[in-house]
Amino acid sequence: MAKPRIFITRPIPSAGIDLLQDHCEVDVFPGPAPPSRAELLAGVAKADAILPLLTERIDEEVLRAGPQLRVIANMAVGYDNIDVAAATARGIPVGNTPGVLTETSADLAFALLLAAARHIVPGADYVRAGRWQTWEPQLFLGQDVHGATLGIVGLGRIGQAVARRARGFGMRILFHGGSDQTAAEALGTRRVPFAELLQQSDFVSVHTPLNAETHHLIDAAALQRMKPTAILVNTARGAVVDPVALYEALSSGQIAAAALDVTEPEPPATDDPLLGLANCLVIPHLGSASVATRAKMAAMAAENALAGLRGERLPHCVNEAVYEARD
Ligand code: GLV
Repeated sequence: MAKPRIFITRPIPSAGIDLLQDHCEVDVFPGPAPPSRAELLAGVAKADAILPLLTERIDEEVLRAGPQLRVIANMAVGYDNIDVAAATARGIPVGNTPGVLTETSADLAFALLLAAARHIVPGADYVRAGRWQTWEPQLFLGQDVHGATLGIVGLGRIGQAVARRARGFGMRILFHGGSDQTAAEALGTRRVPFAELLQQSDFVSVHTPLNAETHHLIDAAALQRMKPTAILVNTARGAVVDPVALYEALSSGQIAAAALDVTEPEPPATDDPLLGLANCLVIPHLGSASVATRAKMAAMAAENALAGLRGERLPHCVNEAVYEARD
């Protein structure tokens, strides 16, 4: 019997490819850029399974191009790039990669928080530019992280992992959204209304998924509530923050700084005004980017794809409703 065909939209770690190779014909889009829309549609047209990345918009048009698709195995924990309702309507299970990237993503969020608080990147640029002449009593004075108040927007898996790190730094931790009381209490965090979190926090770290409710959650009104010394960290999805409002807040000194792993759009245009601000640190969506974690994500996505191709429940499925319809 012919093997099923899977379309992978970029080269991924071999941990994923190796699992698939024995069971599937594997088409890997060579990259390094994502497939164009036409290339995506052409790839899907021949595929029984697709393993996309968060750069691919998997919508009704893509599903129409591949009516034979049996599974979508996103190699990401977030799945806002996929029209899950449209996949569910067609009975196609959608997989994601939760859990394996939690600690790695929290490490990165904390790295950004520390970097923005203590001017790590401008400091390094200053040395590299040959400008370091002497120890200076007032050079690159930053903000203390220890003892400061951290506001976590979305105390889910990654938010909780950030809270664990923050405890080690002796921070006071507030949160809004996304946790059961037991987990929150175990972490010594306090649930507060969103406005209070913004008003009280020295650092606000965003960990909420992107959906209709969280789109531009951090808007002009939210930024206005924050302290002028506050630092915003976003490692979730760019569109949770309104970039125009953020530019206004950073350039007018309404808040002190931002550190972004994610942007809207992504990547930003090279002339995006945020990139011209000294108090805005932007890195290229590296949250889960460790060797070990990307290998685990690739393997998890491959397992999801294989289960879908065998007609079994995906180990990590975001639209369990497809099975209810079948049962
Ligand atoms: C990364 O942003 C992911 O959702 O896995």
